[in-house]
Amino acid sequence: MRFSDDFVFGGATAAYQCEGATKEDGKGLVCWDVYYDETNGYNPDPASDFYHKYKEDIDNCVKFGINGIRISIAWTRIFPKGYGEVNKQGVDHYHELFKYAIDNGVEPYVTLHHFDTPYLFNKDGDFSNKEVEDYFVEYAKFCLDEFTEVEKWATFNEIWPWSVNQFVTGTFPPGEKYQFNKTVSNIHGMLTAHARVLNHFKDSGKEGEMGVIHSLETYYSIDDNEENIEAAKRYDAIANGLAIESTLLGEYTKETLDRVNYILEVNGFDEFKPDEKDLEEMKKAAPKIDFLGINSYQAHWMKEYKGENVHHHNGTGDKGTFESRLKGMGEEVKRDDIPKTDWDWSIYPKGLYDMIMRVSQYENCKKIYITENGIGIKEELNENNTVEDDARIDYVSKHLEAVLKANENGANVKGYFLWSLMDMFSWSNGYNKRYGFFFVDFKTQKRYPKKSAYWWKELSESKELK
Ligand code: NOJ
Repeated sequence: MRFSDDFVFGGATAAYQCEGATKEDGKGLVCWDVYYDETNGYNPDPASDFYHKYKEDIDNCVKFGINGIRISIAWTRIFPKGYGEVNKQGVDHYHELFKYAIDNGVEPYVTLHHFDTPYLFNKDGDFSNKEVEDYFVEYAKFCLDEFTEVEKWATFNEIWPWSVNQFVTGTFPPGEKYQFNKTVSNIHGMLTAHARVLNHFKDSGKEGEMGVIHSLETYYSIDDNEENIEAAKRYDAIANGLAIESTLLGEYTKETLDRVNYILEVNGFDEFKPDEKDLEEMKKAAPKIDFLGINSYQAHWMKEYKGENVHHHNGTGDKGTFESRLKGMGEEVKRDDIPKTDWDWSIYPKGLYDMIMRVSQYENCKKIYITENGIGIKEELNENNTVEDDARIDYVSKHLEAVLKANENGANVKGYFLWSLMDMFSWSNGYNKRYGFFFVDFKTQKRYPKKSAYWWKELSESKELK
């Protein structure tokens, strides 16, 4: 099984998870800074100190055949308050970083928002607040005018997880639970902002490509029971349907809206009625999208659930502690015959294949990148200063096989980015969940290539999946 010559063998990062330096060079407050302080949560400093060590990480990309890197811009490094005065030090930093990557043949795929809303905006309702959407559009326009060296842009990373974890599971700031109405309006606000930025990008004749990165994981029914099938469809409607349809079709279908409104109704919330102006933006934007980014780690099996809402996030890696039963959305059931990570994530590469084939049906889906896929493992350096991460090699191989099979069947996946390039800070797990090609000793900040890094180098050179 062979990859095309132009296939991107990438690694992914996100500003808040790798940069550290959260108070350096004029950076403004991000919602997480306050959230971790208030909840005695994890410390995002120094993470992987990418702010200072990016050259070493890019040099590692070159050495190990990684020719694309996902990087996100921290909004509050550019506008410390989220709006208003520009912080020149932040702007200069990203120019230097992009230049170093480009000069070394590692193409930057730049995301404008990766879970790091400025503190005050998050407090004011995040993207469920129209003003925040407007400020994001201004920030995006600034970046597009300024960083003309960047050719690949993504507006957002993972609209669904960012929205549901703020307002339903409560694992992201502001940590609210079961506010399904705010989740839906946050999703809609972000999808509208994406459309506005994409319309601006294309209408102003800018060069380069723009897309959006969605978390798209497949939801199956646990069996053939009609009620369970419908539960899986409802979960899919809110988690995937809104995003896929808005982005690729330019409208929400009635079926999806009915299912989302059912979830809202059984939880006691008003109907979701999208604004006509927002829908016009989406309609105009959909045909203009250059690529769709898919982040996918696992698949899910659903069963109808009518009781009260219960959600327990496994953020510690204690296998078997995850629980999710959401009224109207269903109960997530873990299948015994499907392997799982310590964080209870079900490993099922066919879920990725099914999703690629599903989105490929849309005419506007011209090109796909797998912008995140990977496996979190508790790891330690061995006596040879490396990590024998065969489980990661196995996981990635099987998912790449799914990608190649999808391409054989008509899809157009042009690249794969491992989450994550090197080990980094995890939002709700701190430092014990490692995903990287490179082991990071968080005390010394030294990097050590894992076995998977050597395997990747071989693969990207031979382009042959064995
Ligand atoms: C998706 C997110 O984009 C990333 O920030 C996160 O750390 C990984 N998933 C792993 O959970």
